[in-house]
Amino acid sequence: MVADERRDLLTAAEMLSAADRVAVLTGAGISAESGVPTFRGEGGFWRGRSAMELATPGAFASDPKDVWEFYRFRIAGLADVRPNDGHRALAALEPRYEKFWLVTQNVDGLHRAAGSRRVIELHGTLAETRCRSCAYRCASADLPADPVPLCPDCDDLLRPDVVWFGEQLPPEALEGADEAVRECQVMLVVGTSGVVEPAASFARWARSRGAGIIEVNLEATPISEVADVTLLGPAGAMLPKLLELCG
Ligand code: OAD
Repeated sequence: MVADERRDLLTAAEMLSAADRVAVLTGAGISAESGVPTFRGEGGFWRGRSAMELATPGAFASDPKDVWEFYRFRIAGLADVRPNDGHRALAALEPRYEKFWLVTQNVDGLHRAAGSRRVIELHGTLAETRCRSCAYRCASADLPADPVPLCPDCDDLLRPDVVWFGEQLPPEALEGADEAVRECQVMLVVGTSGVVEPAASFARWARSRGAGIIEVNLEATPISEVADVTLLGPAGAMLPKLLELCG
């Protein structure tokens, strides 16, 4: 371990050890080592189209078949992925704190699979499918095979229970994230490029309320500007080291 990395890890571990209330914000980077492609990395394309272009209500309205093919591909891909040491380290941190929030932008379910209990899914989950009109919902694993699956209750289109660009975030997830931002003493931000709102602003808001900010990422991001310490390296290696130093 190089001296700078050791110093930064010790600083971060001291911050976490001194806190009673900790919030974690994760993005696609924490699942990269499990084989789930990030959005803005090389794997963020499907048949030459960007994942972000397909994740919109407009794309679904104009071509639900194509959008469903993309999501079935993503849902099927999750069957083989497993949590990595980064997810597991975060699950191991949770019981140490009086209050702990794990706010994720990921829709892959890997935090729960790793044993995290209080997970706030800001962008929904691929595990569930819902009707775009009525209250019907089902597990994505139970979806009918039709290229464009329809609601058995009202015949409108079924859609994955994820948040698309331009859509509102689930109110209960927003409330949970808001509580985390207001109450945490330390916020640990892992594997997000920090460019999609509102999550991109959580660290800045928490900092303006006096929280310390720790970032884990392969590279500097806009969040680095407000972080007390940025641990540069893969989350699957950095988070277990951090956990170990927290004692
Ligand atoms: P991005 O793909 O924008 O960013 C992934 C971040 O993870 C980058 O900053 C990488 O440097 C970092 N990273 C990659 N591998 C890593 C590793 N092994 N360890 C640590 N960091 C690593 O993904 P998000 O920030 O999650 O929204 O994107 C935010 C939102 O934009 C997504 O939830 C999605 C997307 O469009 C919606 O679909 C609504």
